[in-house]
Amino acid sequence: MNFLQPYTRYPLMLAPLAGWSDKVFRLICREFGASLCFTEMVSAEGVVRDNLATRHLLESDREDRPLGIQLFGSDPGVLAAAAKKVVELAPDVIDLNFGCPVKKVVRQGSGAALLQDIDRMVGIVRAVKDAVTLPVWVKIRSGWNEDVSLDVCQRLEEAGVDGITVHPRLQAMHFKGAADWSVIKKVKKAVRVPVIGNGDVGDWRDAKRMFDETGCDAVMIGRAARGNPWIFAQSREHLEYGTMPGDIPADERIDICTQHLNMAAEQFGERKAVKLMRKHISHYLKGLPLISELRAQLLLLEKKSDVAKKLEEYKNILGEKTTSAANTGDNHDRISSWAGE
Ligand SMILES: Cc1cc2nc3c(=O)[nH]c(=O)nc-3n(C[C@H](O)[C@H](O)[C@H](O)COP(=O)(O)O)c2cc1C
Repeated sequence: MNFLQPYTRYPLMLAPLAGWSDKVFRLICREFGASLCFTEMVSAEGVVRDNLATRHLLESDREDRPLGIQLFGSDPGVLAAAAKKVVELAPDVIDLNFGCPVKKVVRQGSGAALLQDIDRMVGIVRAVKDAVTLPVWVKIRSGWNEDVSLDVCQRLEEAGVDGITVHPRLQAMHFKGAADWSVIKKVKKAVRVPVIGNGDVGDWRDAKRMFDETGCDAVMIGRAARGNPWIFAQSREHLEYGTMPGDIPADERIDICTQHLNMAAEQFGERKAVKLMRKHISHYLKGLPLISELRAQLLLLEKKSDVAKKLEEYKNILGEKTTSAANTGDNHDRISSWAGE
């Protein structure tokens, strides 16, 4: 694990998240202390065919390091060829997706479907290891409809895998039920390669608990990082110094959201960025007052400058709301009219 993050005993990683973990979001998470970050899963076929959409998913730069590129597919030869090709992008790790439960993916025999065919998984790992000198990791669920994690991990270790991320849910569970962290602990005890724990880390307390309860070498955070890159900084502070982080003030959340918008516009162009940011903004501002009104107003906007202006207005309105709550309520009319009441 040291080659990825020599300065901490507690590596915190950003999970591969389709539709979310693009270069811009990764850079923001890194600013807050995420170490290894992953691209979303990209199709090995798409890489081999040099598909344009796949190429966009792989966009990165020198600051966006260390980086894991995640591939999905079912054919060992195609995955090996894709791995060889993405080596040109100089990632730090190649990660193989053996956990995606989505129908479109498992129907092709990829993702979690491979948990039903351990021989094929072994064949894939061997083929990819033969093709590249980079570390090859896998990300698994605990099984298809029963827990096969121990068998899978031991066989993949024999095949030469360099790291294993465990999301301890069965394919059939999708995201229902709780992730069973005892599976991570069991795998950690059984293999020598680094084990990365993943699943249901919702805040810094959970990050600490996952390290403590499972003995994992790193914690990977997915859903809870959306709109909340602070989770990396807060978890790190707590893990390393025992501090008890508080809530992030609304104005700071809005400022980072605006920074994200600006970076996204630079990376993807204004149109795509404005559309993409709608979901990010919802997450950044979750739980704040008047958020559904803001969301409705943002849907009507197409220009980055208008979105930025709306966010600034919202920040001011929230400031006034706090002041008016503390004082006389004089600003009530202005706040109501902004919210369209
Ligand atoms: C919107 C979304 C997209 C995801 N995309 C991927 C993906 O591309 N590759 C992958 O291995 N897992 C993917 N996952 C699963 C996450 O990486 C992670 O394993 C899962 O969300 C559990 O971790 P969490 O509780 O921290 O979110 C995705 C999950 C979500 C919610």
